[in-house]
This record gives sequence, structure tokens and C-alpha cells, in this order.
Amino acid sequence: MSREGMSKDPPAIERILFTEEQIAQRIHEVAAEIDERYRGKPLKLVGVLKGSVFFLTALARQIQIPVKIDFLAISTFSNKSSAPGIVRIAKDLDEPIENEDVLLVEDIVDTGLTLRYLLQALSSRGPNSLAVCTFLDRNSRRLVQIPVEFRCFEIPDRFVIGFGLDHNQLYRNLSYVAVMKPDKNA
Ligand code: IMP
Repeated sequence: MSREGMSKDPPAIERILFTEEQIAQRIHEVAAEIDERYRGKPLKLVGVLKGSVFFLTALARQIQIPVKIDFLAISTFSNKSSAPGIVRIAKDLDEPIENEDVLLVEDIVDTGLTLRYLLQALSSRGPNSLAVCTFLDRNSRRLVQIPVEFRCFEIPDRFVIGFGLDHNQLYRNLSYVAVMKPDKNA
């Protein structure tokens, strides 16, 4: 049963963009695309903490082929003394990815700077293949072109929360994706 509209909804929400049901349906479709692409190959899903956790677990449950799962965490530096898009790996993968088929799972691709860094870092480790699957894609704000093989939803140029996406670490646990009110934007 959907619980949208109940009192759990935080006041920061302007409108719901994707409901729990729409998300489940789209993840089901994307999982089928992944099954088709990687059939016969053991696949490793690499999640970027923390935002992708909700999407990755939902996606993994819908994928039928065998998958391994690993995580990494990144830190971004966005203060005035450093250029935007400076990223470093704060928690590395537990296992090597050499000769593996790797699908990097992201919550959202915005400027693309985070993904560009991660793709460079991971491709230097000799995977058999390396591709990207993102839950949300805000293509209108892209600063660097990067290949995105699988995406659930394209979104408008508004700050969104829910289903893993946060504002000051809050709202990740919403079961839907919502646009924040403008005065609450980061
Ligand atoms: P990029 O490097 O600009 O592509 O930024 C990607 C990261 O920015 C994502 O992994 C999110 O952590 C964060 N981010 C970008 N847009 C949003 C948003 O609308 N809501 C929450 N987090 C966001």
C-alpha cells in the first residue's frame, strides 16, 4: 500500500516527481535491460555510498542473473578554495575488479564530474567492462560528457530528495522522489 500523502511527508516537499509504484515499475524494466545485456556473464554492481544504496538494492532484487555487490564512498570538495568537482575515494572497494564486468550504480548524474572521476579511477584497475547505471539523470546540467548506459528517469533542473537522495543527509528514506521547495534548496 502506498503511504504517500501521509504525515511522514516532510514540509520541504513541493511536489512528488515519481511515486513508489512508478519507481518500482521503471526499476523492473531497467533490470530486464541489464539481464539482457549481461546474460552469461557474472556481473558486479558497484554502488556509490550513500545515495545509491536504495536504488542498488531495489535494482539487484529485480535482476535475474547472478550479481556480486561492492561499495565505495567518495568525498567531494566544494569549498571556495578548491575547484568544483574535486573528488576522492573515501572508502574503497573491498575486492579487486580486474577482468570483471562492472556496472557502476549511481543515484543521480548531474554535472557528471563525480562519474568522470570514478570512471577514470575504476578503468585503471583493468575491468573487463565498465558501464554506468543511474537512477536519475539531470542531463541539462552536464559539464562533462560521460557514457550513461542505463537510466531510470530523466529529471528537470530542480533539486530532488527521496529514494536515497538527501538534503543535509535527511529524506533519503522517502519511498518516492520529490522536488524540494525553492527556499529549501541547497
Ligand atoms: P555530479 O558530480 O554533479 O554529477 O553530482 C552527483 C552527486 O551530486 C550525486 O551523487 C548526489 O550526491 C549529488 N546531487 C546532485 N543533484 C542532487 C539532487 O537533486 N538531490 C540530491 N543530491 C544531488
